[in-house]
Amino acid sequence: MLRFIQLLPQVSPKGDFILKDLPGSGKRIDILCRDLAACFSWGPITWLKASLELIAIIADTTILTFRHPGDEIPQNEVGWALVIRNSLREQPPEWVSVSNGSVEEIIKMYSNPPESTLWVLDEKGSHVSEIETKLHITQNSFMLGNHKGFNSQTEELIAKYKLPRVSLGKKSYLSSHCVASIISEFERSENVE
Ligand SMILES: C[S@@+](CC[C@H](N)C(=O)[O-])C[C@H]1O[C@@H](n2cnc3c(N)ncnc32)[C@H](O)[C@@H]1O
Repeated sequence: MLRFIQLLPQVSPKGDFILKDLPGSGKRIDILCRDLAACFSWGPITWLKASLELIAIIADTTILTFRHPGDEIPQNEVGWALVIRNSLREQPPEWVSVSNGSVEEIIKMYSNPPESTLWVLDEKGSHVSEIETKLHITQNSFMLGNHKGFNSQTEELIAKYKLPRVSLGKKSYLSSHCVASIISEFERSENVE
C-alpha cells in the first residue's frame, strides 16, 4: 500500500464550495481534485490502483480517505469535486470514508518506524534516490503541503515527531505531479528487482 496525505488547512469542512469556482470558493480544493486524478487515474501505469490510498485532512478536523473508485472513477476535476462535496455533506460513495481527526492523529497513526514511515514531501529534503533502499523495508506514506507549503503548526509537528523529509528536486512542483512521481518511482524500483 502506498499512501498520500494531503493537508488542506484552509478548506471548509462543510463542503460549501461552488463547482465553477473551485480555487476561490473552495480555498484551493482544486489541489485535492488534481491529486485524486493523479493517484487513481493518470498516475499509475503498473502499480495496482487497489494498493493506493489518498487521505485529505481538511481544516485539521475532518479526514477523507479515498480508495480506488473502480468503475465509478470521475472523469474530470468537477467530477472529483462533486465526490468531495457529497462526502463532506455526509453522502460519500462506498470508496470514501469520512471521519473526525487532526494532522497529529494521522501522524501518530502512520509514523511508526521502522514498520511504517511517514515521509514529508519537501523540496529541501533528502533526494528520493538517497532513500530508495529504505522504501522497500517499510510501509510508506507521503505528506504534502498545500499551495503555501506547510503552516507553522504542521512544522512544529514535523519537528516533534522527527518526520523525515524527502525531495523530488529543488523545483517546487504541483502536488499532483509529486503524487505521480512517487508512484512512478515505486513502479520503476519494482521493475528493477
Ligand atoms: C505547490 S507545492 C507548495 C509550494 C510552496 N511554494 C512551498 O514553499 O512549499 C505543494 C507541496 O508539494 C510538495 N512538493 C512540491 N515540490 C516538491 C519537490 N520538489 N520535492 C518534494 N515535494 C515537493 C510539498 O509537499 C509542497 O508543500
